[in-house]
Amino acid sequence: MIDDAGKFVEDSKARIVAARDEKEVEQVRLELFGNNGAITGLIKQIPTLPKEERSERGRLLNGIKQQAEAAIAARLAELRGERLADIVETEAIDITFPGPPLGRGHLHVLTQVRRQIETVLESLGYQVELGPEVETEWYNFEALNLGAGHPAREGWDSFYFTPELLLRAHTSPVQIRAMQRIKEPPIYIITPGRAYRRDPPDATHLPYFSQVEGLAIDKALTVGDMKGTLLYMIQSLYGVERKVRVRPSYFPFTEPSFEFDVTCGICNGMGCKSCRHKGWLEVGGCGMVHPQVLRNGGIDPAEWNGYAWGFGIERMAMLKHDVDDIRLFYESDLRFLEQF
Ligand code: PHE
Repeated sequence: MIDDAGKFVEDSKARIVAARDEKEVEQVRLELFGNNGAITGLIKQIPTLPKEERSERGRLLNGIKQQAEAAIAARLAELRGERLADIVETEAIDITFPGPPLGRGHLHVLTQVRRQIETVLESLGYQVELGPEVETEWYNFEALNLGAGHPAREGWDSFYFTPELLLRAHTSPVQIRAMQRIKEPPIYIITPGRAYRRDPPDATHLPYFSQVEGLAIDKALTVGDMKGTLLYMIQSLYGVERKVRVRPSYFPFTEPSFEFDVTCGICNGMGCKSCRHKGWLEVGGCGMVHPQVLRNGGIDPAEWNGYAWGFGIERMAMLKHDVDDIRLFYESDLRFLEQF
């Protein structure tokens, strides 16, 4: 074999030069210098040779080794150069090329529902009225007939900054502010906005949620006017087949007070699993504004009267879209949000 060394090296060099990629070069390298490589084998044989031949053979093999290694290095450099040139050509970044289109977002489902509610009530002549989320005790409680120590305060327990400042527990304080600002009835306003309560989160409660309350003050308004308004709103949002009913209830700021319900959209009022066989779903509270509340807003109850209602936007959205867990609205999970 060693006698053919010259030819073997020439063959190997030819194969190295012809190698089409780094893998093929590596293949030849292994055949020459790997553990079972040809050159490796010859080098291993040196100690078995007669002493006088060893250094001569060593020199010869070293020469062969150097030549082969040089050829390998040269071919590898060549191949890498070609690959780079290739990348430059095929993967060059054209910075003038338009980027992929950005995914377009849309309004959050709660914003959509709030705007629908606003649109319907604006079409009846109601105006949107906004107020602060950090409220005083007086606007959140006192002005609404919930004096200090009133047991019903418990239902609107909130988060306090100081004994006088708290996160509003409902948007009703905006009604008082609106009466004070507008002064001269008739007043027809709605008060969309965030409210806060000390409720641990579960499928139907969160410590923060949104409400839309409405307030109408005019001459000789009746429960019938109020019910008609609520019916119009519900049918505009959910469809004309829906019915509304009011049930006696209690709020310190209205007298008489009611809960208002809407017929279940799944069974049309017949009773089914989702309305727990009642046929009705609770939406919110309402009633005729208490005379003292009018007085607190600076309006004379001898001349004017009014009705008010309040409900949660999340609740409305849950009824509209059959959502069974309020927390979904605030988890920012696109798989949920993209459905609306
Ligand atoms: N403020 C009440 C609440 O948050 C709702 C309500 C408003 C009830 C107006 C009656 C009249 O629960």
